[in-house]
Order: sequence, then structure tokens, then C-alpha cells
Amino acid sequence: MSERIQIKPSDSAPATADLVLFSAKGEFIPRPFLPEEFDGEIDSSVLFHSTDRREIYIGIGSKENLHEHTFRKAAGQAIRKAMEIGTKELVIDVSAFEQYTAAIADGLIVGSYEFDEYQSSKREKSTIKVSLVGPKKFIKMTRAQIARGIALGRATNLVRHLGNLPGNVMTPDSLSVEARNLAQEYELKCRIWTKGGLERDGFGGLLAVGGGSVNEPRLIRLDYTVEDKNAPTLVVVGKAITFDSGGICLKNAESMDEMKFDKMGGCSVLGIMQAVAELKPSCNVIGILASAENMTGSGAYRPGDIVRTFDGQTVEVANTDAEGRIVLADALGYVRERVKPDLVIDLATLTGACVVALGEERAGLFCKDPELSQMLQDCGKATGQPVWPLPFCEEFDEQIESKVADVRNLGKTRWGGASTAASFLARWTKDIPHIHLDIAGPAMTAIPKKYRGSGATGFGVSLIYSFTEKWEQSIRKSKS
Ligand code: BES
Ligand code: ZN
Ligand code: ZN
Repeated sequence: MSERIQIKPSDSAPATADLVLFSAKGEFIPRPFLPEEFDGEIDSSVLFHSTDRREIYIGIGSKENLHEHTFRKAAGQAIRKAMEIGTKELVIDVSAFEQYTAAIADGLIVGSYEFDEYQSSKREKSTIKVSLVGPKKFIKMTRAQIARGIALGRATNLVRHLGNLPGNVMTPDSLSVEARNLAQEYELKCRIWTKGGLERDGFGGLLAVGGGSVNEPRLIRLDYTVEDKNAPTLVVVGKAITFDSGGICLKNAESMDEMKFDKMGGCSVLGIMQAVAELKPSCNVIGILASAENMTGSGAYRPGDIVRTFDGQTVEVANTDAEGRIVLADALGYVRERVKPDLVIDLATLTGACVVALGEERAGLFCKDPELSQMLQDCGKATGQPVWPLPFCEEFDEQIESKVADVRNLGKTRWGGASTAASFLARWTKDIPHIHLDIAGPAMTAIPKKYRGSGATGFGVSLIYSFTEKWEQSIRKSKS
């Protein structure tokens, strides 16, 4: 994936470059020629041709309401406008908004990405040089902020790109190759289970779900380890179904193509690991992807099958389309028995019910610890990747009781389906602190925004990275 922009800090603006100005509502806008309706309202923008350059004004709304995500969106909007008008060199005046430089860099990178690799006519694109301009001391102070924004933006675009690649290209094996390459580039430890390894170690969930496809399942593990022996360990697990046809319980044709996005949890885990490897937090972070293709081949698992997962618990398969929880059961059981981390977070495009409940912007948050729940909600607001708490409790256990196995993969009723799925997962983490994020809504979008194109969104990277830093500090405080 090629980068469309280059960002550098500067204390002087090249005179001919196009200029971006972030304008707050009601603020004095110096041009007498700007259309009257432009008054800095959020999401609005206007292009002005002065004698020597073009100026892009981006409204950022009321000065009292400015926050990190305002600038991420404003920067995304600016770069998309610049791409539209064929800008080669862009200057953004950030002198009044220094504390938001990381979000601005992030927004620029994310805004500039389009999935057009397979459109022959769109392949040739020149790079836009972007200078973030402020006073001399700004350059020194904000270099690290810019680097942070670029790292998070690039990791987000990696997730989006892997996600946008279709099922015939991005198979479980290709995902494992991506993981291995990432590990090599950033010196992470990497372990991949191919079919033989999964059979040897008893990952019956992945083998069942992946049985109907010629593209065999994979379990992928990446480790980022710090030297400090007392450092806490966070595990991030992702559902990576590279295509979910529903299996024998086949989905309707309508929007089945969107099920290439059923790997977004796993893709986000790869992006999180890249961000971690670049920004180096002071805790251990392990990323795990449970990857399979849910197809209908003659090796496919069937309704009525009983599957034994990694930790020995058995699952009655009532519906082959509720496959995400089965591959996650394998991964979470492995994490509980072999890693025993301080916290495990799983990200999964798990249920349509969650999208019905919360819409397409918010992820369902299933968390039993009020402090961690608040911490994640705060990170969600700041990063523009919001999460919303949903019930995570024992009352859903009876939904998944089975007469023939330890548990059934389908609720007795369809009500509260997102919580039923969460309660299924909790049976594999048991006493390990566990947060489940159902990202079926926000992981992808059919509608482009002013600040970001359509397709995979990269939801989770900035959210979980910023959470990792806060969690690491809070857990150290509580241990000391
Ligand atoms: N991958 C889907 C969930 C999904 C639906 C993600 C819509 C994104 C958008 C998941 O595997 C699935 O099919 N879930 C079923 C569960 C049901 C059979 C209990 C669902 O939500 O309908
Ligand atoms: Zn499914
Ligand atoms: Zn699925």
C-alpha cells in the first residue's frame, strides 16, 4: 500500500503551496471575498482562490467545543479537498492548535487513503507534500506528536487496506503472511498454526469453522515484549473470518459481499500490533488472530455437530452462521490456559444484533469492571471510535444451555443476541479479566464521510492503543 502524503513540521510556508486554515465559528475570517454562509460551522469548508495561492478553509465549530477528534476530522476533510483539487504541496497552519498535532497528522493520513488498487485508471497518483507550520519552538516540541499521529494513521490504514481486500485475495494464509512480514519488519515474535498445528494442539473450533473451505484456517500470534519483568500483559484477540458465507446455514445473497469485512477484528489486531511496535508502550502486548473462511464445501461443519474447543469444552452447533464465537472460543481458551494475561480484549464483527441496537458508529462494549469501562469510553470519545456499554452478565447463560454438549452456539430466543454472544465468550475466559468489543457496526461503512472514504474504517487501532497506555499506567498504580 503506497502512502499518498508526506508530512513534515516547518516554521515557514512555501509561498506557492495551497494553504489550509482551520476556522472556528464566529471567529474573524480575514477575507472579504469568502461566501457569507461560511462561518466556521463544523464540517463546512470553502475553497478560495487568492492571487498567488489557493486557500482551503475548514470549519471546526465553536471554540468552546474543540477536542481531539474535531481536528482529526478537519484534517481528513482538508486533505480530501486538496486531493480533489489536485494539490501538490499543502501548508497547514497549526500554530493555534499545537496540542492537537497528533490528531491532525492521523486525520491527514487516514483521510488520504482510498481503496483503488484494483481500478486500473486510478493507479497513478502523485504524493502530496504537507507542511505543518508553527513557530520555531513548535517544530521541536511537536515532532514526537507528529510521529505518533503518523504511526496511528498508518496502522489504521493498514487495517483498512487488509480489510478492503476481498475474500479471494485475503485468505487466512495471506493474513498469516501479513502477520509474519509485520513481525519481521518490527522485530516481534511470531507464531503461526497451520492446519496440522491446529490438529495437533486441539483447536477444534477453528478446524470446524474452516472445514468447508479450501483456504485452511490459521491461528496467528504476535508478541511485543518489554524488558521489565514486572510489566503487565495485555492480550488482544481478533475474529478474522476472511469471508462469512454463513456456511451450511447460508446467508441471503443481499449484502453477502460485505462479509469480506468479517475479518476486521483480526485486521485491527494487526494494526494495533504495528502501532505498539512503533510507539513502544511500557507493557507486554500479545496479538492473536483466529482466522478461517466460513464456507459450504464438503468438509463444512453442520448444524447438529458437536465440536471440542482447545480447552476441552464442547459446543453444539445450532447455526453455522454463529461461527465467530466458535473460533474465538479456541483463541480465548488458549489465552486463559497458556498466557494468563492481566487483561484480554477481543474485537469481533460478532452479531447483527449489535448493529440493530447501536447503529453503525458505536461498538458494543461488554465489560464487568466499571473503571475499565469508563476508561474505554473516554478513549472512544477522544479517538472518535466510540463504544457503548451493553449487558454482560449471567442472565444470558440460560440462552445457550445445551442438552448434548457443554454449550450451544445459538440463543434460545433472538432477543439480546449481542449479549448472548458475549456470555458465550465469557465461558472461555472465566476468571481472566475480559473485555469484549462487538465492532460489527463501526468496522466498515458503505457511505464515505467528508473526512474519510468508504469501506473498512480501521476501528479499534487508535481506541485500543490509547487505552493500552492508560491501562498500563493504572494497573501499575494499583499494584504499587
Ligand atoms: N459476521 C456475522 C455478524 C455480522 C452481521 C457482522 C452483520 C457484520 C454485519 C456473524 O457471524 C453472524 O452471522 N452472526 C449471526 C448470529 C446468529 C446466527 C446467532 C447474526 O448476527 O445474525
Ligand atoms: Zn456468521
Ligand atoms: Zn461472522
